[in-house]
Amino acid sequence: MDDLRLESLEGVGPVTSKKLSDAGVHNILDLVVRGPVDVSEITGMDIDTAVNIVNKARKQLIEDGKLEKEFVTATEIYKRRQDIGKISTGTNALDTLFDGGIETQAVTEVYGEFGSGKTQLCHTMCVNVQKPKEEGGLDGGVLYIDTENTFRPERIVSIAKAKGLDPEKVLERIIVAKAYNSAHQELILQEAGPVIEENKIKLIVVDSAVGLFRAEFLGRGTLSVRQQRLNKFMHLLTRTSEVYNIAALATNQVQSSPDTFFGDPTRPIGGNVVAHSSTYRVYFKKSGKKRIARMVDSPHHPEQEVLFTVTEAGVADPEEETKKKKKELEE
Ligand SMILES: Nc1ncnc2c1ncn2[C@@H]1O[C@H](COP(=O)(O)OP(=O)(O)O)[C@@H](O)[C@H]1O
Ligand SMILES: [Mg+2]
Repeated sequence: MDDLRLESLEGVGPVTSKKLSDAGVHNILDLVVRGPVDVSEITGMDIDTAVNIVNKARKQLIEDGKLEKEFVTATEIYKRRQDIGKISTGTNALDTLFDGGIETQAVTEVYGEFGSGKTQLCHTMCVNVQKPKEEGGLDGGVLYIDTENTFRPERIVSIAKAKGLDPEKVLERIIVAKAYNSAHQELILQEAGPVIEENKIKLIVVDSAVGLFRAEFLGRGTLSVRQQRLNKFMHLLTRTSEVYNIAALATNQVQSSPDTFFGDPTRPIGGNVVAHSSTYRVYFKKSGKKRIARMVDSPHHPEQEVLFTVTEAGVADPEEETKKKKKELEE
């Protein structure tokens, strides 16, 4: 077992270690996730010392093979990418779009209008991640950060039943954290380290990532502060997904932008900040009873669109739904 204790680092004594763990930084992984600015704020140590300690922590994780080196060959990156896990969406359509499923070591952002199925996808993934690897899951638990009060255990029960899983067991592996304001939302993620390890978390859902920031920082004067806070949160989410090798799924609302004359007159809120820190961005749009999902921004997926639906069993392929309806009518 690798030594992840804070005190295994040179320069971290019992006093610093206590200050850190009081602030939710319990081990070397947490140190790297939080970064030097936070560490300096928490402990009162000067920024140079904090940078030094965080760099040592990072070095140790690199030596343990838990983190990527600063300078690596493409072969090494390729190898580390082999560790990336994928969680199947349980649909052919969305799996095609995601090239197999939602990835670990990355943030996947889904944005779209109200009712487009973002929360339904989040619920479906909470069940799918628990399946064994052979069935497209990662045999992992979920940390669900609910900022809009839209998490519904009843939906988890229906989705689990439809997939032939024991609903009680499935519910047990979903840790729900309700965020009451944006600072609380940040705090939940900052303190997630031990929760992630204890519960073998393989998926973090943030539904929605921007809602609270948007509600609290109104008006033009506060826009830059909002972006800064949101930026910090999204980076924390990215680092958490990388350090712990877990998938992060974040939703985002859209706003009308009157300056768009062509294409869809909707843009994700949070603009560039969220865009730059999420590895994959997908746009959901209602189209009658069906939904369109479009891969907007990805380092290696082709830009494409697929159709899906939302059913009692969560997100589904449209043809499946038609077949089922037909069968029901025949019976
Ligand atoms: N049990 C269900 N069976 C079928 N469709 C459902 C079910 N629950 C929700 N939906 C569909 O999902 C839509 C809500 O999607 P949701 O994911 O909450 O949207 P948002 O993108 O705002 O998060 C509803 O309008 C409905 O069409
Ligand atoms: Mg929603």
